[in-house]
Order: sequence, then structure tokens, then C-alpha cells
Amino acid sequence: MGRAHSKSTQVQAMPRDRYNQKFTQIQALPRDCYKQKCLISSPCSSNTTITYVGDTKMYGKNEVQRNDECDRLHMVHFSMRDLWKTNFSSPIEDLLTNKRAKVLDVGCGGGTWILDTSLKYPKSEFFGIDILPLFPQCIKPSNVTFSQCNILKRLPYDDNVFDYIHMRFMGSSLTFSAWEFVIKELVRVLKSGGYIEICEVDHIWMNEGPRAGKLRAKVIRELIRRYNICIMASSLARRILRGNDQLTDFHQEKRMVPMGSWGGKLGEVFLENAKWGVKNLKNAVDSLGVGDVRYDAMVDSAINEIEFKKNVFDTVHRFWAKKIGK
Ligand SMILES: C[S@@+](CC[C@H](N)C(=O)[O-])C[C@H]1O[C@@H](n2cnc3c(N)ncnc32)[C@H](O)[C@@H]1O
Repeated sequence: MGRAHSKSTQVQAMPRDRYNQKFTQIQALPRDCYKQKCLISSPCSSNTTITYVGDTKMYGKNEVQRNDECDRLHMVHFSMRDLWKTNFSSPIEDLLTNKRAKVLDVGCGGGTWILDTSLKYPKSEFFGIDILPLFPQCIKPSNVTFSQCNILKRLPYDDNVFDYIHMRFMGSSLTFSAWEFVIKELVRVLKSGGYIEICEVDHIWMNEGPRAGKLRAKVIRELIRRYNICIMASSLARRILRGNDQLTDFHQEKRMVPMGSWGGKLGEVFLENAKWGVKNLKNAVDSLGVGDVRYDAMVDSAINEIEFKKNVFDTVHRFWAKKIGK
């Protein structure tokens, strides 16, 4: 097992009232964890979303005001950079600066992480893959290649190609069994001595009120029931990385993120993104059976409750580990 030098770093102080927090527990895992389904929702025109469930493409109306997926992903990236002050936690600074390292970003979306990181490390080569062509097609740095690729299938790379693999916020896209499959594939294409890093959010809103708690629990339960997808993916990612017998030197780091404008621009962006995310899941959870108008009203009311509480946090994690053999 890859646990030789396990270390946990808690970087920011916990909020004072951490012990009053209310956690929503997932009571039990669904029996059938073996279906390879994937759920993504991305706007393909001004008011339409594409949702994938497995290989099935569904179209639905997106009534969210901020419906530009690339804009949203750019915004999320820069809020994360503001939070962490770096684009990665693995010890790869020297490698990226001085060697011709090969880097893979999985589920790269609009390519913001790659575009931002590749400019800082011009000697290294960056590859971004995503099932949707949200990334720039022509105008990009010369050390960047983007490809359209479904990570639920075997990756189009040989074994031991990449020095560093980065994957962020895939929690709403991978089923329980897909997580196992994807990590195995990533470890296959990672070089011995290379690092894999995963960044995920808890989606546990500490100090949330009754409206937010009820909505969050319902949406989470519905995604598990319908698709075998658990968006509270941080513990799953941690467990799968730690359980992979080709990985060692497991590390983790976490940051608390304020939700709401009391937390400055970061809190404002994070809450807006949470609202966008829950609204965009409307089709996937069939508006929880209450109809679109009522669903939207429930989301607005939960988001207002969070904003007014001025003490709600979520937690973002980075996990990283090294492939054995060097
Ligand atoms: C929440 S976004 C995260 C984007 C980016 N990693 C970031 O941190 O901003 C999830 C991305 O995963 C992509 N995705 C979902 N399922 C996928 C699959 N099976 N294969 C490849 N990409 C996938 C989506 O198209 C979307 O761009």
C-alpha cells in the first residue's frame, strides 16, 4: 500500500464554531456501484445544456442566468488560485522549471489551469483532455495540446508517459466505479517517480441552515440514486489514491472556503458557483419532482440563507502521491 510517508497538512485555522457544524451523512452506498455512467452538464448554446449520462447525450433547457460554462470555469480556476496561491501542491516546481516535463490535465474544461500553468513553465509540455471541446482550438501557447477524449475509456497514451497528472473537480462526473477505473488509467500513463494530484470539494456546507441542508441532502441523495454519482468525492478520491498499490508518499492539504460575500470576492464567487452548480443539476435530478419553478425557488432560498448566515464554509482538498519505481 502506498502509505509510507503519509503526512496531513492543515493550512488554515478552522472556524471557531466548527463543532456546531451539521453534516449530512450519506447513509449507505447504493448496491450497484458498477455501472459506468457519467454525468456532465455544459451549455452548448446560450440557453441549452448538454447532459451526458453514460454515453447518452441529453439536451435540456438551462434557465441559469450565468450560463457560459467557460466563463464559469475560468472564474473557478482563479478563485482556486487565490485560495491556494499555487496551481499545485506536488513537489514538482524544479521538474517543471528545469526539465522538459510532460503534464496531463484531466477534465481540463476551458483549459484555464493549463493555460495559466503552461505560461509559467515554458520548458514543459502540457496536455489537456476533456469530453467536450470547451478548450481553445487554435490560440494557445506552443507547449499546450488539447484533445477531446472520454476518460471512462482507455486513455490514448502509452504506459509511463507523464511526469505529473492533475485532475480537479470531477466529483459530479464520475460514478463510484468510474473513480477506480480512471485512477488506475492515470497511474498507468504516469511515469515511475511521477506525481498524481487530485483536487476535490467536500460539498459539506459547515454551519448551513435548514433550507440549504435539506436541499443539499436531497440533491446528493438523488444523484447517488439515479447515477451512482457522489459529488462529495473528496473522501472517495483520498481512499482510492491511498489504496492504489503503485502509489506511495501520499500527502493531503485542505483549505476552508467561505461561502457568501462576507468572505470577500472568493466567498462571493464560491457561493455563486454553488448556486450555478445546483441549478444546473435541475435536469439531472428531474427538479426533485417539484417542478422547475419550485426547484429554482428552493435553490434561491437556500443560497439566500447561506448568504445571510455569514459563517458557512466548504472545504477544498488536494491529494497527491508518487508512482513507485524511482
Ligand atoms: C467541473 S468541470 C472541471 C473543469 C476543470 N478541471 C477545472 O477545475 O476547472 C468537469 C469537467 O470534466 C469534463 N468531463 C466530464 N466527464 C468527462 C469524461 N468522461 N471524460 C472527459 N472529461 C469529462 C467536463 O466536460 C468538464 O469540463
